[in-house]
Amino acid sequence: MKPTIGFIGGGNMASSLIGGMLRANINAADILVAEPDASRCQMLADHYQVHTTQSNTDTLQCECVVLAVKPQIMHQICAQLKPALSTTAPLFISIAAGLMSATINQWLGDNQAIVRCMPNTPALVQCGATAMFANKATSSLQQQQAEKILQSVGITVWVANEDQLNAVTAVSGSGPAYFFLLMEAMQQAGEKLGLETETALQLVLQTALGAARMASEKQISPATLRQQVTSKGGTTEQAINSFEASHFRNMVMQALQAANDRSISLAEELGKL
Ligand SMILES: NC(=O)c1ccc[n+]([C@@H]2O[C@H](COP(=O)([O-])OP(=O)(O)OC[C@H]3O[C@@H](n4cnc5c(N)ncnc54)[C@H](OP(=O)(O)O)[C@@H]3O)[C@@H](O)[C@H]2O)c1
Repeated sequence: MKPTIGFIGGGNMASSLIGGMLRANINAADILVAEPDASRCQMLADHYQVHTTQSNTDTLQCECVVLAVKPQIMHQICAQLKPALSTTAPLFISIAAGLMSATINQWLGDNQAIVRCMPNTPALVQCGATAMFANKATSSLQQQQAEKILQSVGITVWVANEDQLNAVTAVSGSGPAYFFLLMEAMQQAGEKLGLETETALQLVLQTALGAARMASEKQISPATLRQQVTSKGGTTEQAINSFEASHFRNMVMQALQAANDRSISLAEELGKL
């Protein structure tokens, strides 16, 4: 039987997706990974029992092909695939940051079914958040195939307009780093207030995890949860008032606006490569 899901690029994101797909009971025999590095091919075959190849065009026999390479080499990959594409071309799923589906479509030829995804790094621990956009040539069955692959490493949402992926990049794509920054700052503050480094770190990590789990499991909005733990005249109220006095919300808005704007300019730069 021919493999049904191909990967071009067998790096971090591909490995994470493959690991998630196997846990979701997708058959290793259904997966083919194209990767130029022979030792990496061997490692993937040994670890996941997937098929591997050093030829990218071999993946075109699959029903869908995940483009899991750096955006900077995507043009080169598409130029390689283009002459080998037939009328039964696969669905292409791009996880490359910043590259518009129209750009990939133009590089591959024309009228290709393309789903563009914006995953984030927690996908590496099966806790990702991925937003997806399907171009007009993509069927609803192909959308379901793409969803099944990305859902193996976390939650997925669809956006109706590709432009919304800039906002997604600002919120969830770059988002993990904002939480890391807050954790870092809280750990440092804890140390200045007298805690050992390791103690401060442990408390910050568990607090972040606990807050995220409460907000996602309790079906209560973050605003309400915050009010519930902020009693009048208490310690939390003092801290929240201090954040508000320093225009915390405005700082967050400005930061996300900057990420959104950079996402737009990166797409323009990558489209010219
Ligand atoms: N990491 C994340 O959390 C994350 C989040 C969102 C989106 N993404 C996107 O996911 C994509 C992959 O990221 P990654 O972190 O998985 O990168 P990565 O670990 O560097 O993986 C890329 C893989 O592609 C291989 N490759 C290089 N040239 C190739 C070629 N000509 N043909 C086939 N494969 C080739 C690389 O092999 P060599 O190492 O031998 O060059 C490497 O194994 C990127 O476009 C990135 O924007 C990543």
